Amino acid sequence: MNAPTPLDRVIPAAAPAGGAAAAATSRADAPYFQAHDLHAYYGESYIVQGVNFSMKESEILALLGRNGAGKTSTLRTIARLAEPHLTQGEVWLAGQPLHRMKAYQASRLGVGLVPEDRRVIQGLTVQQNLQLAQIAPPKGWSLEQIYELFPRLGERKNQEGTTLSGGEQQMLAIARTLARDVKLLLLDEPYEGLAPVIVQEIEKTLQKVRDLGMTTIIVEQNALAALHLADRAVILDMGEVVYDGTAKEVLDNEDLRHEYLAV
Ligand SMILES: Nc1ncnc2c1ncn2[C@@H]1O[C@H](COP(=O)(O)OP(=O)(O)O)[C@@H](O)[C@H]1O
Ligand SMILES: [Mg+2]
Repeated sequence: MNAPTPLDRVIPAAAPAGGAAAAATSRADAPYFQAHDLHAYYGESYIVQGVNFSMKESEILALLGRNGAGKTSTLRTIARLAEPHLTQGEVWLAGQPLHRMKAYQASRLGVGLVPEDRRVIQGLTVQQNLQLAQIAPPKGWSLEQIYELFPRLGERKNQEGTTLSGGEQQMLAIARTLARDVKLLLLDEPYEGLAPVIVQEIEKTLQKVRDLGMTTIIVEQNALAALHLADRAVILDMGEVVYDGTAKEVLDNEDLRHEYLAV
């Protein structure tokens, strides 16, 4: 089979099928990131059921939906983790076919997943956690840059990572990902289980990361917080995209929020 270029697959969700919009598609129009018709399984369980969306560089997309809608599974599929298993569809990042790669290759190409459980490594200090992330190239931010963005981590750099508070561990998990050369940041429920005041602090940090132009997908149960940070919103339900539009449209559309987000 000839390797398809991203161009063969460029079908912006908002564009009408066929017609002038499709004909106008050219290399320069190829989206920076594209999830095209993703289908993925855990064993026999069919979970990701034809997910489509694309992103421009520097865009922040809130991936929302009820518990069990398939948000984590979609992030894991994009990051090319072994489970769920991708059986059909394509994932493109900056012209690279992630769907043909394993997780370590996608990571090397700049996919940075911050998982829900944070996974701070036991027995290592904050600084050692960050240094470990930088063992393999390509390197991202320097420790100095990270401590500037996360002053709390700088103050606690010699403290064992697992003794940090929940909010600080979340900061360390994000910082550790940025210590690698990230092109696409995937955040799975960064505010989960954190007190409102800590959520605000992490929000401020993520706003700074956004202002630096990091292309980001944020999954959050706290839909309003995610929508305030994001430009775009995609809502999943039962493994399918049921809404793709601007974050503002979702904030303004009470019916949509009631139906799919319960907020
Ligand atoms: N390891 C797994 N094996 C089998 N089913 C799973 C596994 N992980 C998640 N699921 C199922 O996939 C569906 C979507 O889960 P998930 O992607 O975690 O949803 P969300 O992140 O939106 O809450 C759920 O029905 C869940 O039970
Ligand atoms: Mg989840």
